Amino acid sequence: MDDFKGRLTKDGIRIHGADDFAGMHRAGALAARILDDVAPMVVPGQTTEALDAAIEAMVTAAGATSATIGYRGYKHASCISVNHVVCHGIPGPKVLKEGDILNIDVTVIVDGWFGDTSRMYVAGKMGRKAERLVQVTHDALMKGIEAVRPGNTFGDIGHAIQSFVEAQRMSVVRDFCGHGLGQVFHAPPNVLHYGRPGTGPRLEEGMFFTIEPMVNLGRPETKVLADDWTAVTRDKSLSAQFEHSIGVTATGAEIFTLSPGGRFHPTWIA
Ligand code: MF3
Ligand code: CO
Ligand code: CO
Repeated sequence: MDDFKGRLTKDGIRIHGADDFAGMHRAGALAARILDDVAPMVVPGQTTEALDAAIEAMVTAAGATSATIGYRGYKHASCISVNHVVCHGIPGPKVLKEGDILNIDVTVIVDGWFGDTSRMYVAGKMGRKAERLVQVTHDALMKGIEAVRPGNTFGDIGHAIQSFVEAQRMSVVRDFCGHGLGQVFHAPPNVLHYGRPGTGPRLEEGMFFTIEPMVNLGRPETKVLADDWTAVTRDKSLSAQFEHSIGVTATGAEIFTLSPGGRFHPTWIA
């Protein structure tokens, strides 16, 4: 049976074995622990570059490597995306103010395996609309993960996310997607957060990928700023994102990036 592990499907998706799950578990656990440990620093008056510096120090202290430093010229250990920034926000001197919501996205490499996860934080108290957006985005990710089992398709994942979000009268970003990962950062397939049931590649035990829906309060369109990274909503509406790295098991999904402190869910945001 292990002869079949390590093969690529016809869509170029790698099938992994039990030792590979163990490697991903270690990498995912570190990324998730870092997101737990940075939480107390997310307060009004804090800069996003200070949060990034703390994250980089935690990666180093763990004996791990940041996957994002040096990736396509990116220079930071995290992406920090505040308010209407959809993703790939660059840490900098920007000072957080009361009520700002932000996504922090960290990818680490542990013994060659990539752990990629992001979640939402708030500086101070969250406004009502922001709270609804954050809750819906979190729940959309979990609906996507619930659709993960051998025999379902990637379109089933996208449909679960899109139908849930649009029923709440929010929109799913189309311009960015999840991705296969493992011993590489970005691999096939593109994991779309919208789609039709039964379409796309079929899920098989041993596939590793991220699901990372971005949800906007307004319209789905985005644009990338002149820095070539920062993606924002075109209509300046608030945006949120959650990301887990997962593996397909015989019966469902193993989430590699579960919060060790149980702090992933927005109701646990201090
Ligand atoms: N972690 C992001 C993802 O979810 C990728 C960030 S690439 C960077 O795929 F260079 F912007 F950091
Ligand atoms: Co990712
Ligand atoms: Co990420």
